[in-house]
Amino acid sequence: MGLKVNVSAIFLLLFLTSADVKAENVVFDVTKYGDEEDISKAFKSAWEDACASTSPSKVLIPRGTYLLGPVIISGPCKAAIELQVKGKLQAPVDMREFEGFSSWITLNYVDQFTLTGGGTFDGQGKSASNQNNCGKDKHCKLPPVSLKFNFITNGIVHDITSTDSKYFHAHLLGCKNLTFQHFTITAHDESLNTDGIHIGRSKDIKIIDSDIGTGDDCISLGHGSRQITIEGVTCAPGHGISIGSLGKSQNEESVSGIFVKNCTISNTQNGVRIKSWPALFGGSASDIHFEDIIMKNVSNPIVIDQVYCPWNECSRKSASKVSIKNVSFKNIRGTSRTPVAVQLSCSKDIPCDEVEVADIDLKYTGSEGPAKFQCSNVQPKFHGKINPSKC
Ligand SMILES: *[C@@H]1O[C@H](CO)[C@@H](O)[C@H](O)[C@H]1NC(C)=O
Ligand SMILES: *[C@@H]1O[C@H](CO)[C@@H](O)[C@H](O)[C@H]1NC(C)=O
Ligand SMILES: *[C@@H]1O[C@H](CO)[C@@H](O)[C@H](O)[C@H]1NC(C)=O
Ligand SMILES: *[C@@H]1O[C@H](CO)[C@@H](O)[C@H](O)[C@H]1NC(C)=O
Repeated sequence: MGLKVNVSAIFLLLFLTSADVKAENVVFDVTKYGDEEDISKAFKSAWEDACASTSPSKVLIPRGTYLLGPVIISGPCKAAIELQVKGKLQAPVDMREFEGFSSWITLNYVDQFTLTGGGTFDGQGKSASNQNNCGKDKHCKLPPVSLKFNFITNGIVHDITSTDSKYFHAHLLGCKNLTFQHFTITAHDESLNTDGIHIGRSKDIKIIDSDIGTGDDCISLGHGSRQITIEGVTCAPGHGISIGSLGKSQNEESVSGIFVKNCTISNTQNGVRIKSWPALFGGSASDIHFEDIIMKNVSNPIVIDQVYCPWNECSRKSASKVSIKNVSFKNIRGTSRTPVAVQLSCSKDIPCDEVEVADIDLKYTGSEGPAKFQCSNVQPKFHGKINPSKC
């Protein structure tokens, strides 16, 4: 009897303690820190105070439109921290303001991080797009990424919009257990290199229930991407969901455990794609599964491209040294804008291994002949109905 009482007393105590912590979630409102139009300094100060708080804290950017110059905010913080953006943040239009910065907003080394609030990050890329010539000159200075997440762990980004970035919208490096949900990306579709979300050297990343429209890859997974789930995402327009390009540099980490499920991809250049450079360097991509995907008017719905060599930057004569293994494409339906609905071009030195293709129905209704399924250096295992007929 006595024991019972003690146990429930302890539970009550625990409950009260956690409730207290919640109630204490300390709010740092940036508008209380000075200039209400350009919040660059105020934001940094509010972050520093919140980050030093020993109980969970929140940096609040209330409704309204604010200018924000390039900022780097860093942890580690003393407790969980939330950035609640209710307003609209606008990046400088003038590229000169980004001198010395590779991104607009950089977050470094934060654990238990939340970014939410329904607000918008406006990279103002539309007005800045004529200020770089990266389309023509590869030695140009790259424009800034809008949101850079470096070494963020156990975090969630939800109900946030990123619009008109100057370069990639979101870029992840060294992150672990980070989820994006209801993350909306919009950009004009002629914008150069405005990848939606690029992931590199990160693990346990989820992108779920999100809408991504951009001028380049909707989501791109670079080397070192492991255990990545992409589910309930719509991509339109852009270049689709892409793994790679791999094998461009030495000592790339492997890509593995990629699950793309229940996504809709519309009016894009590619649908789902794995690409690697010929010749050059080795690497590996394995355990990659695409399932329940709708393609609408996609130029190249299903692609493995191991002779990826844009702008003739490499020699196509030697085969790719990247191995691709344990890949499945299941239940992928819809329309292809070109006759080649499926193209699996693997390396002749290291053919793709354990590729499974099941229940494919991709229609092409244009004038360039029947839809095609092309394969080289791969012998997929087929299941179910396959249209266009198997290679
Ligand atoms: C991942 O991060 C979320 C959000 O902070 C947290 O609730 C969850 O426990 C973490 N998962 C693991 C396995 O650490
Ligand atoms: C598939 O994704 C859509 C969002 O694109 C979502 O509304 C729907 O609930 C998802 N279905 C399943 C079975 O998860
Ligand atoms: C198909 O996509 C192309 C661009 O990729 C676009 O010009 C065309 O209007 C689209 N057609 C339909 C029916 O949406
Ligand atoms: C293929 O990948 C899945 C998912 O990671 C994994 O469960 C399975 O064991 C892999 N198959 C082989 C033969 O490695």
